[in-house]
Amino acid sequence: MTRILLYTGKGGVGKTSVAAATALLCARRGHRTVVLSTDIAHSLADAYDVPLGPEPSEIAPNLWGQEPDVYYNIGRYWKTIQNYMADLFSWRGLDEVMAEEMSVLPGMDELGNLLWIADHVESGKYDVIVVDAAPTGETLRLLSLPEASRWWIERIAPIGRRVSKIGRPMLERMIGVPMPRDEVFAAAERLLARLDKVHRLLADPERSSVRLTLALEKLSIAEAQRSFTYFHLFGYPSDLVVANKVLPGHLAGDGSFGGLRATQQRYLPQVIAQFAPVPVKTVQQFDREMVGFDRLAEIGEALFGADDPTTFYYRGRPYRVRSEDGLHVLEVALPFAARDEVRLSRNGDELQLHVGGWRRTIVLPHALVPEPTIGAKMEDGILRIQFRRADARPSSGSGSRGGRA
Ligand SMILES: Nc1ncnc2c1ncn2[C@@H]1O[C@H](COP(=O)(O)OP(=O)(O)OP(=O)(O)O)[C@@H](O)[C@H]1O
Ligand SMILES: [Mg+2]
Repeated sequence: MTRILLYTGKGGVGKTSVAAATALLCARRGHRTVVLSTDIAHSLADAYDVPLGPEPSEIAPNLWGQEPDVYYNIGRYWKTIQNYMADLFSWRGLDEVMAEEMSVLPGMDELGNLLWIADHVESGKYDVIVVDAAPTGETLRLLSLPEASRWWIERIAPIGRRVSKIGRPMLERMIGVPMPRDEVFAAAERLLARLDKVHRLLADPERSSVRLTLALEKLSIAEAQRSFTYFHLFGYPSDLVVANKVLPGHLAGDGSFGGLRATQQRYLPQVIAQFAPVPVKTVQQFDREMVGFDRLAEIGEALFGADDPTTFYYRGRPYRVRSEDGLHVLEVALPFAARDEVRLSRNGDELQLHVGGWRRTIVLPHALVPEPTIGAKMEDGILRIQFRRADARPSSGSGSRGGRA
């Protein structure tokens, strides 16, 4: 089964270097490996210091690299829909060039690049796919969109087709906008199905790992926590956190970076505790420009040592959110914790879990932030924290199920 390793993290922390190093090491350890950049601002070619094209090309034994072309992707999956949207906008009086511009939805270009993952899995040519993704994991949230909009395929698309057959001209006169034609529905269905496929691949815990790269500094850590919460929420398995550019113990003569190093050393144990049970590996700050195969191999060795980079460093989901009548329940796996040693506190969008001497901060998913915490219980090593849903309707006489047991 093709292994998929996707790297993300805040801008500049070293995603591209770490992804490129991982792919190189995979190739050197005998896996046929393709590495592709889905970040719109590609820099994979710069990291390897070789030219890369929109299709995979072999750049070292067992290693193929690719920087997909956004316009090619749009032509392939998005053109029909884009044409319709451009029609729609120009119908509304937008001039043509503007309409063309407006009709590319934000995130669509990067999503288009991610679709290559499905192509590479289907081709059967590679053992490992390494993805150098854009910062923040925002696109991974977009990628879960087809999951949420499956109703669109099942309900709206067939109705839309029927309507467009019977009464498009009439409807257009009534509501005053051009109705999409059959091929637009078909294209939208194709695109959603394809996105759904990539989503399933990335959410498959037997195949995929989403890995976070961070720097030991406040903003980078905060953003990594947020992404981490979303990965679990949307079911993307995460097995490794890479703390990059860690200053080595012995500093150059005058010790001028001593203060920074002390700060990093303070953050490191916190990061380890916050992401546990997902492990944190460190890569030191090198004192040279880490460009080209030899330098990247050094990063790879620092990160993985003798390990195979395709190792699953962690399996399982540390927490998930479920809905029960009128409630959201955040479930946190806390094996080994006894009920009376767990304490909870809440501060805005953060939930602090104190277990024995350990503290863990969970950045709450967006939907839970406005919702009051109303209780918690421990069952079978799982802490269940209840939130009153903001969208829950107040119970009204007959038909209500009654909240109390
Ligand atoms: N461990 C390291 N030691 C020294 N330099 C490093 C290390 N890791 C990365 N770099 C350098 O830091 C710079 C930024 O790294 P890189 O481009 O990999 O980050 P990125 O997270 O992909 O950035 P972007 O968000 O712009 O895509 C590069 O010049 C890279 O060579
Ligand atoms: Mg990059």
